[in-house]
Amino acid sequence: MVSEAVPLPKAVSFAKVDGPNGPVVIVQLHLNSGHLSMSKRALITGITGQDGSYLTELLLQKDYEVFGIVRRSSSFNTQRIDHLYQDPHEPDTRLRMIYGDLNDSSSLNTILRKTQPDEIYNLGAQSHVRVSFDVPEYTGEVSGLGAVRLLEAIREIGIRPKFYQASSSELFGKALEVPQKETTPFHPRSPYACAKAYAYHITVNYRESYGLFACNGILFNHESERRGETFVSRKITRAATRIKLGLQEKLYLGNLDAQRDWGYARDYVEAMWMMLQADEPDDYVIATGETHSVREFLDEAFEYLNLDWTNHVETDERYLRPAEVDLLLGDAGKARRILGWKPTVSFKELVRIMVDHDLKLAEAESAAKTIDSTVANSASWGTI
Ligand code: NAP
Ligand code: GDD
Repeated sequence: MVSEAVPLPKAVSFAKVDGPNGPVVIVQLHLNSGHLSMSKRALITGITGQDGSYLTELLLQKDYEVFGIVRRSSSFNTQRIDHLYQDPHEPDTRLRMIYGDLNDSSSLNTILRKTQPDEIYNLGAQSHVRVSFDVPEYTGEVSGLGAVRLLEAIREIGIRPKFYQASSSELFGKALEVPQKETTPFHPRSPYACAKAYAYHITVNYRESYGLFACNGILFNHESERRGETFVSRKITRAATRIKLGLQEKLYLGNLDAQRDWGYARDYVEAMWMMLQADEPDDYVIATGETHSVREFLDEAFEYLNLDWTNHVETDERYLRPAEVDLLLGDAGKARRILGWKPTVSFKELVRIMVDHDLKLAEAESAAKTIDSTVANSASWGTI
């Protein structure tokens, strides 16, 4: 599914066919091929992640031509977008994958020069907060410096795409006010949040220095049935459904008192797109305006399955963080007023969407009588 080079879509193709009076050359204009097209081109880093997959769906629905940067992996890492696959050999393909890496400026320069995007969504990151304490330097490279590598490539090449930076509510960290909004001071509490603070500020700096249409989306936690399985929401819904079917006995977690403002990822990618369609570039908080503890997430998920989580959940201090973010609650009033954005999925609905999805996975696992060793072992691997 990934192209090795960056093939520029053909604007014109020729075919020679036999007509009644001899050979005829057919010239075909591919009106959605980019140069001749009215449709926009988007480039997405992190296209294989949770948000990247939903954003790609959204942009394809809106008739964009989408290019995604995929990093080389020894096993397949495109599961979240495989359903969107389009044959790269077809001239009218609207989704193309390109190998690259946020750690590799030269690949980013080449990709930007060849794809000439109208919009860039920088979603790529080492996005796990707990893991960032284990690989702080790497996290800084990808989640922090990755942004400036893209911004510098834009400046050097001289293109003028709109730029979206995936900023995070983790920036508020040890929050100085509740709820948090665009003007709330940052107090990052992890190497991940420090890296994202750099990316946030450099995005603002390129907007102010070079007049780039660059926006920060300060997104609060958003989850879905495509959420990585080591984030707490999905870890809970995977485990609860497996416990329900007798595939697992225990679930090991860290801090159950942490509170998060949890929304649905599909709603949140809509906000990313809206920011780049606004009249002026700006930074926006995207949140539901409700906060719930990990304990409440457990209540909701296990009760839906008629289970009592206190019989199954145990604490393992390896899942605690050296510095914790205790409470996040966002005020997305600015996004509502200026962009017209609001969330559509409640906390209860979110948990149920995820449980319903994971119950099907557990049923398939049970029917196949094979234990998914990835999930079964995840509680004992590393510290995530
Ligand atoms: P995710 O599922 O962890 O996806 C991260 C993406 O980044 C994956 O496609 C990953 O590729 C890619 N990536 C990792 N290292 C890379 C590198 N060196 N070069 C290029 N790509 C790389 O994250 P998400 O939940 O979709 O979040 C999207 C973005 O929003 C991230 O920047 C995250 O920090 C930020 N954010 C997320 C939330 C949230 O609640 N989800 C909230 C605020 C901000 P592989 O698939 O190969 O690993
Ligand atoms: N991952 C995890 N695993 N978290 C746990 C566990 C566990 O076993 N037990 C308790 N928690 C607590 C964490 O300590 C944290 O307070 C909360 O659950 C949420 O953890 P995560 O789901 O890992 O998300 P996060 O809030 O740290 O970070 C996510 O949201 C950020 C936006 O606020 C990530 O998606 C970040 O990339 C994103 O920026």
